[in-house]
Amino acid sequence: MRIAFCCANTKAEPWLDGFRQALPGVEIDVWQPGAPQADHGVVWAPPQQFLDEQPGLKGIFNIGAGVDALLQLKLPAGATLVRIDDGGMAVQMAEFVTHAVIRHFRKFDVYDKEQSQARWAFQRPRERRDFPVGVMGLGVLGQRVAQALAHFEFPVRGWSRTARQVPGVECFAGAARFDAFLRGTRVLVCLLPLTPDTEGIMNRENLSKLMAGAYVVNVARGAHLVDDDLVALVNSGHVAGAALDVFRTEPLPAAHPFWRHPRITVTPHTSARTLRGESVAQIAGKMLAMERGEPVAGVVDVQRGY
Ligand code: NAP
Ligand code: GLV
Repeated sequence: MRIAFCCANTKAEPWLDGFRQALPGVEIDVWQPGAPQADHGVVWAPPQQFLDEQPGLKGIFNIGAGVDALLQLKLPAGATLVRIDDGGMAVQMAEFVTHAVIRHFRKFDVYDKEQSQARWAFQRPRERRDFPVGVMGLGVLGQRVAQALAHFEFPVRGWSRTARQVPGVECFAGAARFDAFLRGTRVLVCLLPLTPDTEGIMNRENLSKLMAGAYVVNVARGAHLVDDDLVALVNSGHVAGAALDVFRTEPLPAAHPFWRHPRITVTPHTSARTLRGESVAQIAGKMLAMERGEPVAGVVDVQRGY
């Protein structure tokens, strides 16, 4: 089996070693223009030239969950596109979002400031029932996040394209139920894939429907959020603040107002990282399954966009 490795911003050698160990006898190289046809590609943000020069790929394995960048490109007609299916990301996402929600709910940001002035002062406790959390996207990551928050006894709601049932979570589905979902949500978590239907979904109109004193956690893609609309709503007080991990331009430019806004927290696209060991094991297993003609999990529906 021959594998072409074409991952931007990724140190290749540890991945190549991992695949060589997982698939003894495999031929795997960093892709270069003019390289021979491979059976499978392991990719992150590859150039169009890679896909054009590898028309016979059977599997294209994205080393992340989101495939929005890949779907901007023209894929080889016969290739199956596969995303990382959890691979250790769901627990990271659950800890990241739970931390963000609890930090806001328990006012740990206020205590940080109090400590800097050596002040011993209690904040009035808040009621969980006043903080319903709404998770947009009930897929691999969203379901895990919703369940983690439900364990802390927040009222949790979830919204998906098709109807889902998640224990402990009030589920809403489709465009027709979006309004009801938003109006009963105080803390909004975005875990949607970026598609033409979801781009800019966190705009002034939709964020204004959230309960007063809302909080926004975006861990999906920067283009889900209309930046100026969020800043305006935070400044107006309707939105109390936001924890943002993803941005329209990454790295976030130094002059962007998010960096210095006192009620916005910025992290550098780190909420759920690809874990090399788990990812190699998952992808290698799927390549072998595909070679045997067996179905694999995490196949992207290219028409649907995720
Ligand atoms: P997933 O398993 O594909 O789940 C996507 C969910 O979104 C599904 O529940 C789907 O509904 C729902 N959805 C899609 N389009 C919708 C629409 N138009 N209206 C309502 N719901 C819609 O994806 P995942 O693995 O959970 O990952 C979600 C996203 O997280 C990725 O696409 C990626 O962009 C992002 N991500 C970010 C990081 C980070 O470090 N910040 C790391 C990993 C992933 P159905 O259930 O009906 O299909
Ligand atoms: C990271 O953002 C991913 O999509 O895996």
